[in-house]
Amino acid sequence: MRRLSRRKALSLVKELDAFPKVADSYVETSASGGTVSIIAFSAMAVLAILEFFVYRDTWMKYEYEVDKDFSSKLRINVDVTVAMKCQHVGADILDLAETMITSNGLQYEPVIFELSPQQRLWQRTLRLLQSRLREEHALQEVLYKTLLKGAPTALPPREDAPNEPLNACRIHGHAYVNKVAGNLHITVGKPIHHPQGHAHIAAFVSHEAYNFSHRIDHLSFGEEVPGIINPLDGTEKITYNNNQMYQYFITVVPTKLNTHLISADTHQFSVTERERVINHAAGSHGVSGIFVKYDTSSLMVTVSEQHMALGRFLVRLCGIVGGIFSTTGMLHNLVGFCFDIVCCRFRVGAYRPRQVSPVDSVLDMNTPMDELQLNHLNHHQAPLLVGNAPL
Ligand SMILES: *[C@@H]1O[C@H](CO)[C@@H](O)[C@H](O)[C@H]1NC(C)=O
Repeated sequence: MRRLSRRKALSLVKELDAFPKVADSYVETSASGGTVSIIAFSAMAVLAILEFFVYRDTWMKYEYEVDKDFSSKLRINVDVTVAMKCQHVGADILDLAETMITSNGLQYEPVIFELSPQQRLWQRTLRLLQSRLREEHALQEVLYKTLLKGAPTALPPREDAPNEPLNACRIHGHAYVNKVAGNLHITVGKPIHHPQGHAHIAAFVSHEAYNFSHRIDHLSFGEEVPGIINPLDGTEKITYNNNQMYQYFITVVPTKLNTHLISADTHQFSVTERERVINHAAGSHGVSGIFVKYDTSSLMVTVSEQHMALGRFLVRLCGIVGGIFSTTGMLHNLVGFCFDIVCCRFRVGAYRPRQVSPVDSVLDMNTPMDELQLNHLNHHQAPLLVGNAPL
């Protein structure tokens, strides 16, 4: 009994076979079919290889959302060299919450303002990259993808022993600030904090010593990821006026970065800059110095590296192979059909020249026997009967 039902099931499955086998003796091969097959298989191979490259490739996906992280601190990384002696300048950060972040985390290091040849080369490369980045936005993605923790992007140390006087001051390090708008400034004199605010003691610095020519080797916000090039890195400003004021207005955009190499909380920023000469007599008031005003954006960007899933790749591969296979088969049949039509009509017209009536053109593919009959009918002026003619 069980065996019987099993046999039934088997025969049912057999009937469902969508791939009926044709005995080899019924299969006919032709030269045109062979050519089409070769073309089809080459197309399949080429497309499959290209698809494989697409599968291997990755792309960046950008998502925007409101930044809900309002309590954490923002880290500022600074590396600025000012053309003044260290005892004459001071850097500090003031924010909207009226807290002064003393420059405890910032170190002052006497250096030479002029770069050594190797450092110049580094700076020139950085500037070239900056200008390219402004034109080619896709370059940013390449940089993101190749980021590696520990890759050196900082200014290399001097290769020669300094024999000139140390005329400049390098201010570098990092500080943690509240996530509100603030102002990092570098001006004459050391900052002091008192209950009403803060001031810079500048009484002992002669006016001729003022020189706010500066170089920004690095300025970034958030986690420091070597390899990311920030908009102000490589900036160099030279002034011939003692009372120069430089302002940088920065909007910081928190950016979460997830690539297959690293995942980091960084910050991108956009910057506009302004500079002017302080001249109270000419109505240009202010304090000479370098002022970096920053504000954080309420939007957060998540940049993540995406790639095609293996299942999707296989499905697309099947689509390519099957699609080409059936499409070329259909095209081959269609071309053959058209060829037959053209060829037959040509042959008929050649050996029996006459006016082609609509009826003839419809029935062109009939055997000559039928056509003779039709001609006969035409002669007897009974075209309406043609449809009923015994074909
Ligand atoms: C400031 O220093 C730079 C670099 O050493 C120099 O080229 C420039 O002339 C100086 N400017 C003033 C006003 O002294």
